[in-house]
Amino acid sequence: MSERILVCVAWPYANGSVHVGQVAGCYLPADIFARYHRLKGNEVLMVSGSDTHGTPITLKAEQEKRTPAEVALYYHGEFLETWRRLGISFDLFTHTETANHHQVTQDIFLTLLKKGYVYTDSVPQAFCPKCQRFLPDRYVEGTCPYCKKPGARGDQCEACGKPLNAPELIEPHCRICGTAPLFKSTEHYFLKLGAFNEQLLTWVKEQAHWRPNVLNFTVRYLEDGLKDRAITRDIEWGVPVPVKGYEHKRIYVWFDAVIGYLSASKEWAASTGNPEKWKDFWQNDCRAYYFIGKDNIPFHTIIWPAMLMGYGGLNLPYDVPANEFLTIEGRKVSTSRNWAVWLPDYLNSYAPDPLRYLLSINMPETSDTDFSWREYVRRNNDELVATYGNLVHRVLTFTHRNFSCKVPPSAATDTTSQQLNALTDVVFLEVDGLLNRCSFKQALKRAMDLAHEANRYLDEKAPWKTIKQDKQSAADSLCVTLRAISALKTMLYPFLPFSSQKLHEYLGFTGRVEDVGWQIQPPLAGMDLKQPAPLFTKLEDELIERETKKLGH
Ligand code: MF3
Ligand code: ZN
Repeated sequence: MSERILVCVAWPYANGSVHVGQVAGCYLPADIFARYHRLKGNEVLMVSGSDTHGTPITLKAEQEKRTPAEVALYYHGEFLETWRRLGISFDLFTHTETANHHQVTQDIFLTLLKKGYVYTDSVPQAFCPKCQRFLPDRYVEGTCPYCKKPGARGDQCEACGKPLNAPELIEPHCRICGTAPLFKSTEHYFLKLGAFNEQLLTWVKEQAHWRPNVLNFTVRYLEDGLKDRAITRDIEWGVPVPVKGYEHKRIYVWFDAVIGYLSASKEWAASTGNPEKWKDFWQNDCRAYYFIGKDNIPFHTIIWPAMLMGYGGLNLPYDVPANEFLTIEGRKVSTSRNWAVWLPDYLNSYAPDPLRYLLSINMPETSDTDFSWREYVRRNNDELVATYGNLVHRVLTFTHRNFSCKVPPSAATDTTSQQLNALTDVVFLEVDGLLNRCSFKQALKRAMDLAHEANRYLDEKAPWKTIKQDKQSAADSLCVTLRAISALKTMLYPFLPFSSQKLHEYLGFTGRVEDVGWQIQPPLAGMDLKQPAPLFTKLEDELIERETKKLGH
């Protein structure tokens, strides 16, 4: 029976290029999951978009002497190009400056206001006497009151991860001119999070299928007690507050960004010619998955669910499989210090699948993991080229050459062959279950185990030797291996979509892998095999030094 799966992916700030940490954190796992469910014949909607609001964008715009809209538009275009080249298969990747998003955001704001979940209060707000402006969030910096590290921002300390309010900072100063701010009282709208504390706790405790880190973090946060949060800002860029007398204020970026999941679903539905279709994913039976990095957990397990509960009638998240962080060569990613591997750079030099492979087999699912160029080269050469690629290449070229470019007829299978067939079936089923549970790393490992076993089988059977005395026996072992390879093509498709599609065609199939669905598709006797080329290319060690040197400069 076909199921409905909504794949929601964190909205990247449109103030810089995508880096590998973000790909490993959420874009790649979301894409693997969406591709898997499409193979399963499920109805999938995968949405996200550029997060174009808030001080991350306005600060960048001020630095570059451009408007926030120009900055956002530029990176939005670059993101679209990155997803296309990396094979991240969004059904819609939009942005938060659309008329639709503004309208959906204002509707939620007004509904919560009408229901009493949003109210006004006055709060002290940092004001720079020299710049003559309010300093929201990232415009004010100081020392963290918790960990005492300098450089903490008015919204959060990056060093210890604690959310902050500007008045708590020690020695606060304006990020633009360095002056110490005054704190002036100003009126803002607040989200009554406290009203949802109990309801959230009851709901969260029922989510036994969540990852332990996500579940425990959320329960602890809720047990500490929720404080109401300001959801408007004195800033000129963002979604205007739709209340008379408050039009000059803007809705806080986090309040509008999470609404993007809903507004994007509506935009997608309208683009299909069936504007009501978003309801299938938000009001009917549907499992909604939110792929995010761990720093975004409370926004997706607490704030967004509270907004949905307050609004009413929309599905809550089914799962929030947040990933931990990816370090680069042993150090935390720092975009300002250029300690990062940028996707546009990567894709100018290398193929997408080897990176997808490394980031999947080394995915930070339950703990932080490290990216290194040495590991990239090693995994590419030892695992993609020498194990999987080599298996495929020797079977295809040998069959092609010795059986007039066709799949030979198979006569009998001996015990060893039956064992490989059985293993293929078992692994196929296991990988299915693992992907369904978002255990991506484990799923990929199992598929690669099969590639390894198929190589051993082939070495043992040595059809290049038997062909001289017993052509049929050689044909038999090739058919068993071709079946395993074809199963790998399907199992690996969510991870390595470009090479799976190539392999699909080398095996003599037409159309797209996705259309075949989640099944082992054995190449049939007499089918024409296409002239194969190697699926992967060996990488030289020089690459390691060349790429590592670029870091931090
Ligand atoms: N832009 C935020 C970040 O990069 C993530 C927003 S996710 C969404 O950390 F929930 F708001 F969509
Ligand atoms: Zn701190």
